[in-house]
Amino acid sequence: MIEGKEIPSDSPKKNPQVLFLYFSFSGQTGVLVNRLAAGLKEQGVEVSFEKLKPVRHLRFPVDGILRTFVMMLTTFCRIRVPIRELSPKCDREYDLIILAGPTWSYNPSGPVLSFLDRYGSEVLGGQEVLPLISCRGYWKLHWWGLRRKLRRCGAHFSNLIAFTHPNPEPWCTIGVFLKIAGKNPERSGFISKHYDRFGHSNKQMEEAWRFGVQIGESLKGNTQLAAINFQTKLALP
Ligand SMILES: Cc1cc2nc3c(=O)[nH]c(=O)nc-3n(C[C@H](O)[C@H](O)[C@H](O)COP(=O)(O)O)c2cc1C
Repeated sequence: MIEGKEIPSDSPKKNPQVLFLYFSFSGQTGVLVNRLAAGLKEQGVEVSFEKLKPVRHLRFPVDGILRTFVMMLTTFCRIRVPIRELSPKCDREYDLIILAGPTWSYNPSGPVLSFLDRYGSEVLGGQEVLPLISCRGYWKLHWWGLRRKLRRCGAHFSNLIAFTHPNPEPWCTIGVFLKIAGKNPERSGFISKHYDRFGHSNKQMEEAWRFGVQIGESLKGNTQLAAINFQTKLALP
């Protein structure tokens, strides 16, 4: 047991327990988390959720093109977004913590960076962590930086889930930017011919559910999480 952490009160525990610690700005990580959780529950895994809440509410969409540019710039500089206190759920020990959030300008999002600074070692230290990244298409730099931070926190991790938006480039980048700025690229003339939907597809949601089932099987059978292939064509089209 990790020092200072409580063993769940219903110990000896029958079912594996998983905590989803996540932030979602435009809802995409949120839906992936929900589908993964549904797959885990199917396997009898008990799931808890802790959503990281910024002290100052972040409004989606951002109001206008200029504000979106400013947001891109500040996130590129890894400006932290302060978050509220975590709930007591985070004081417990889990079989797995899924740390989920979007990519912001090649980095983890501001609230996740704040979480790692302030609570990383306390909450993730000594625990098995599975990162989940939702992004438009460029997750590798994010993963590279996050991996270093997780190591510093003393977290154990052996695998990663990343989902990229399925739209082709450059329409994906243009569409995401316009969506963040509060426009409707799916409905605006020329762009809508190449960009029909913001975010992850329904097939990717099904894939997230399948990943949840696989993680549940792994936790129950004590097989290695590292052995699961999350880098499928559906997750990373
Ligand atoms: C400020 C900002 C910066 C972003 N930068 C990137 C990026 O560098 N690479 C990328 O692939 N996606 C980037 N995205 C797109 C998001 O990662 C993507 O839309 C993700 O699915 C959003 O997840 P969420 O709805 O949970 O917030 C950015 C989004 C925002 C708001």
